[in-house]
Amino acid sequence: MGYFDQGGSNASAPQVDFSRLPRHVAIIMDGNGRWAKKRGLPRTAGHAAGAETFRTIATYCKEIGLEYLTVYAFSTENWKRSAEEVGAIMGLLKKYLLEAIAKMERDRVKMRFFGDLTPLSPELQKLCRQTEEISQRYEGCQVNICLNYGGRDEIVRAARAFALDCLAGRAEPEKLDPERFGAYLYSGGVPDPDLIIRPSGELRVSNFLLWQSAYSEYYFTDVLWPDFSKEELHRALAAYQRRSRRFGGVN
Ligand code: FPP
Repeated sequence: MGYFDQGGSNASAPQVDFSRLPRHVAIIMDGNGRWAKKRGLPRTAGHAAGAETFRTIATYCKEIGLEYLTVYAFSTENWKRSAEEVGAIMGLLKKYLLEAIAKMERDRVKMRFFGDLTPLSPELQKLCRQTEEISQRYEGCQVNICLNYGGRDEIVRAARAFALDCLAGRAEPEKLDPERFGAYLYSGGVPDPDLIIRPSGELRVSNFLLWQSAYSEYYFTDVLWPDFSKEELHRALAAYQRRSRRFGGVN
């Protein structure tokens, strides 16, 4: 069961108009730990199942013609978890990136990473850079993976980079506006997310795309991320299509 306008008869047979999809969907992949606990499995098994769900959903997003998918894979706060859990998530990322590189010519998905990659292992950093480099020529669908990402951290880094540009004479404080500032963010060049999905019943933003979500539509559902399916995505898309977006104006 979802929240607010997701219910009613459309909940079981969501009607999606595939000719009016949002350009950019972002997802907080939450609930892996609870999914595992419910089954008496270690949390790491939940992340493994979550990684499979990510693969299914990312492939499907490309299939239906979505332009941008951004997922929250690891936050700046997730380092507080046990070394075993952090290691397992990094291991899953490595496995995924190796497979993505091997199948890149077939899948042709452009990939980018949002976040400070420097605390990651040199091997993982290299894989991320390689994936970005090889895939940058693809067009059609771009998947952004937020890794060691935090919205506040992103804004502070952008402010710092802008200040340094000012000191170096490459920018002028009086000319700064939201558009110019946005170019300093990890997401520079990517349109803001139209729809942000948070599964697992948590109703919070958790430091995800703070700047970019100014006018995003949110969709919350109790479904845990490993159980998130194409059908669930359809529900989210159908709910989005029933909303009226005004961007602060009037209809
Ligand atoms: C949140 O669930 C999930 C994470 C912190 C990790 C997400 C990572 C993956 C899905 C795997 C790797 C990703 C890719 C892109 C291959 P939680 O652990 O907070 O769940 P809980 O709230 O139920 O404990």
